[in-house]
Amino acid sequence: MNINDFIIRLEENKDYPLVENLVRESFWNVYRPGCSEHYVIHVLRDDPAFVRELDFVMVRQGQIIGQNMFMKTVINSDDGTDIPVLTMGPICIASELKRQGLGKMLLDYSLEKAVELGFGAVLFEGNIDFYGKSGFDYARRFGIFYHDMPKDADQSFFLCKELKAGYLDGVKGVYQTPKGYYVSDEEVEAFDKCFAPKEKLKLPGQIFG
Ligand SMILES: CC(C)(COP(=O)(O)OP(=O)(O)OC[C@H]1O[C@@H](n2cnc3c(N)ncnc32)[C@H](O)[C@@H]1OP(=O)(O)O)[C@@H](O)C(=O)NCCC(=O)NCCS
Repeated sequence: MNINDFIIRLEENKDYPLVENLVRESFWNVYRPGCSEHYVIHVLRDDPAFVRELDFVMVRQGQIIGQNMFMKTVINSDDGTDIPVLTMGPICIASELKRQGLGKMLLDYSLEKAVELGFGAVLFEGNIDFYGKSGFDYARRFGIFYHDMPKDADQSFFLCKELKAGYLDGVKGVYQTPKGYYVSDEEVEAFDKCFAPKEKLKLPGQIFG
C-alpha cells in the first residue's frame, strides 16, 4: 500500500449516494443485523449541528473508500454552563481495505483539521483499541459522563480527546448525543429499500439486537 495512492477531501453533494452505500457496506451486520448508519449520515447532513468543513471522504483511484464526519454538541457542565464540543461519526473504511492503517490515517487527518478550525474536544462512543492509538482516552478520566446512564455504570465505550490542551480542565459534566443521531427502525427500513437487497445476520460480537 502506498500512502500517496490515497487522497482525503471534503465530501461533495455528488458523492452522497456512493458514500451512503459505502457506509452501508462497511457497517452491515457489524453492530447489529443490518445497520442504520447509512440512514444516519443521510439525515445528519441536513442537521444544523453538522460540520460541513469536517465532512471527509478518502479516495483511491477515483473510488471513495472511506468517510468521516463531525457534529457540534455540548457537555452540560455541573456549574450550569454548556461547553461546546464535537462528536464524530459515522467513520468507516471499505470492508476489503480494513485493518491496513487507512482508518487511522483518515481519523488523524480529520482530527488535525478539527484542531485547525479551533474546536476544543471530541467525544463519542467507540472502541479504545482503535481510537486510543489516536490519543483518545475514556471520557470518565476527564470527569465527563454519558447522558441517561448512571455514573458508576461501565462507560468504557465513551471516549474523549482534547483538541486544545487543557480545554476540559475544571469541566465536570454530562455529554449529550446530538438528537440527529436517533433514527427510528421504521425510517431505516424504508430508506434501506433504496439499496440492493442484503441479508441481515445475527453474528457474535454485535452489541445491538
Ligand atoms: C473502525 C474502522 C474505521 C477502522 O479502520 P481500519 O482502517 O480498519 O483501522 P486501522 O487499520 O487504521 O487500525 C489501526 C489499529 O486500530 C485497531 N483497530 C482497528 N479496528 C479495530 C477493531 N474493529 N477492533 C479493535 N481494534 C481495532 C488495531 O489495533 C489496528 O491496528 P492493527 O490492525 O495493526 O492491529 C474500520 O474498521 C471500519 O470501517 N469498521 C466498520 C465501521 C465501524 O465500526 N466504524 C466505527 C464506528 S465507532
